[in-house]
Amino acid sequence: MGSPIESEKSASSAPPSGSGAPAGKRPGPFSLVLSWAGANKRYLFASVACASVAGLMTMVGYLGVFNIMRAAYEGTCTSSTLRDNALLTAVGCVLQYACFAASSVLSHKGAYKTLFDVRCRAMDHLAHAPLGALDERGVGRIKTVLVEDVERLELFLAHSIPEAFMYLTGPVAAFAFLCSVNAPLALATLVPFACALVILAVIFSRMNKVMERATAALARMNAVMVEYVGGMRTVKALDMGTASFARFRRAIDEEHGLWCEIARKTGPGYAAYLVVIECGLLIMVPLGGWMFATGAVAGSTYLLFAFVGSLYLTEIRLLQEIGTKLAQVGSGARRVQELLDVPAFGGGRPFPDRADIELSGVGFSYDGSVEVLSGIDLSVREGERLAVVGPSGAGKSTMVELVSRFYDATAGTVRIGGVDVRDIDYDDLLRNVAVVFQKTFLTSGSILENIRMGSDASLEEVREAARLACIDDFVMGLPQGYDTEMGSLGNRVSGGQRQRIAIARAILKDAPILILDEATSAADPENQLEIDAAIANLSAGKTVIVVAHRLGVVRTCDRVAVIEAGRLSCVGEHEEVLRRCPYYARAWADYDRARSLEIGFGASASASAPEAGAPASASGASAPDPVSAPDPLAPPDPSAPSFVAPAAGARAASAEPLAGKEARHA
Ligand SMILES: Nc1ncnc2c1ncn2[C@@H]1O[C@H](COP(=O)(O)OP(=O)(O)OP(=O)(O)O)[C@@H](O)[C@H]1O
Ligand SMILES: [Mg+2]
Repeated sequence: MGSPIESEKSASSAPPSGSGAPAGKRPGPFSLVLSWAGANKRYLFASVACASVAGLMTMVGYLGVFNIMRAAYEGTCTSSTLRDNALLTAVGCVLQYACFAASSVLSHKGAYKTLFDVRCRAMDHLAHAPLGALDERGVGRIKTVLVEDVERLELFLAHSIPEAFMYLTGPVAAFAFLCSVNAPLALATLVPFACALVILAVIFSRMNKVMERATAALARMNAVMVEYVGGMRTVKALDMGTASFARFRRAIDEEHGLWCEIARKTGPGYAAYLVVIECGLLIMVPLGGWMFATGAVAGSTYLLFAFVGSLYLTEIRLLQEIGTKLAQVGSGARRVQELLDVPAFGGGRPFPDRADIELSGVGFSYDGSVEVLSGIDLSVREGERLAVVGPSGAGKSTMVELVSRFYDATAGTVRIGGVDVRDIDYDDLLRNVAVVFQKTFLTSGSILENIRMGSDASLEEVREAARLACIDDFVMGLPQGYDTEMGSLGNRVSGGQRQRIAIARAILKDAPILILDEATSAADPENQLEIDAAIANLSAGKTVIVVAHRLGVVRTCDRVAVIEAGRLSCVGEHEEVLRRCPYYARAWADYDRARSLEIGFGASASASAPEAGAPASASGASAPDPVSAPDPLAPPDPSAPSFVAPAAGARAASAEPLAGKEARHA
């Protein structure tokens, strides 16, 4: 199949380097991190400068102590020698502290600004990526990258870089000084260092092999955890506690096992490294002593090497910790880059003036092998209302998602106003197509923020949208009104109220194209009237595609399209489709039967009882009657006949989506 994604996101939102470059020429993870730092590098450079001075200051203490020892050895030590060198050491300490503090502040400033930029860039990139690419990765894995892997960059930028300079500059300066005094002895000081480096290389190679697996295990644990907590309601409802907890436990066990393996493989090496790097005294004291005894070096030189020469390299042991962090940073940076490399939707033309929709020869496959849609030719005129019906799994949702470009068609073309949706600027397209799903997503902010969804609409505009969505009264009845946090409401918001909040969003968006994917099928009878009225307000004057499970919706649309097994089996006006399409005729016939059952039921129970199976049916006559609800897409008219009666009695349990027939049709 042809790639559904034709272009990467514009360079401004792509990482400065990396994206789009051939894999072979990719910069390493550390160059990547530095390139992401962008203008924040100035803080990092300043931090490195301060850290280097702080590193040099370590040597001042050694120098002070050495001066005193040498004076004592030569018999020239006076109180002023002690005072001057004590002062020198103190000044060195203060300067080291000041420089290190400045370095730390600067590096954190640069690091957190970089983290902010990388997270924003990644979120912006994901917002432009096809849903399929996000599904493939899963919420847990994406969370691991955005939270933990990005956080690791802080280790590199705020700690590893300045600390590496700090721990290196002092020893390098000391080595240069020692070389100027006695080169052979200075070189001998490097023997423990060389051995330690070999040990370090072995530790790193072992670490790197396991680290990838450890991070993958962490990502898996995150994914299972997110699933477990997110699906808690289902887990409890179906009493799946033990089974799903077993998966969670396995993921934790796997992670724990890997860290034990890391400890086993690197622990002994690390101990050897620490011992070797600190064993300079074992070489310097006998070697320097022998040279002193043979007259090759002066007593003061022997003291210098025995003291400074055997200690200055111990500073370097901290580099091992940096190395361990770098292994984690490297794998984290690679995963961040992988996320930024997810091809994103582009397109540059503004949204067209006309809002008609045309699908020509459209085919789609989620996985590249199974065709979910094929050969769809369908056009929707501007201002027309098209109902899409068909059996469950036929591809209705998939088809409408191609219009809003949640996915790109893998064959054929989807056009709006004559322009291929892939050529329309993606943000502009999303601004002009409003989608209301059955499953409503609400964020954790206030109700006001939930309706605004990032727009700068005033409170009055939000309230007007909420009034049209028939949710204003409910919100104003809350103690904190529109400032009520969604989290604080908990279960006090019903599914229908959530849907009306989503509809208020769509009204506020005022897009010329409106897609309703079963937006009302989950509503309970109490909410039905209000949702229907809200949808009527929402759809006025728009090009509307409504994926319908309720025949009432279908009858108020201009035309009906029937999708069966991924193909458009019939399209036309209701009467015509009824004649030509067996599925559609059967669905209406089913409704007839369900309706007569309901009438029978209603006659024996209560003339005004809500539909059977609805939660409110037990509550008696006070609940609004969904059967007399207005059509959602029709102008609000309380006297209009109803089509909203999915099923009754036995039929309700096996309801095919279109399980009913409106009374008018009968
Ligand atoms: N994200 C996905 N990845 C892979 N396959 C998918 C995905 N979403 C849907 N499908 C498959 O594509 C087919 C069409 O699904 P779609 O959701 O479009 O059907 P539908 O007609 O809307 O069904 P329903 O009426 O039950 O909502 C189904 O076989 C479904 O299993
Ligand atoms: Mg669907």
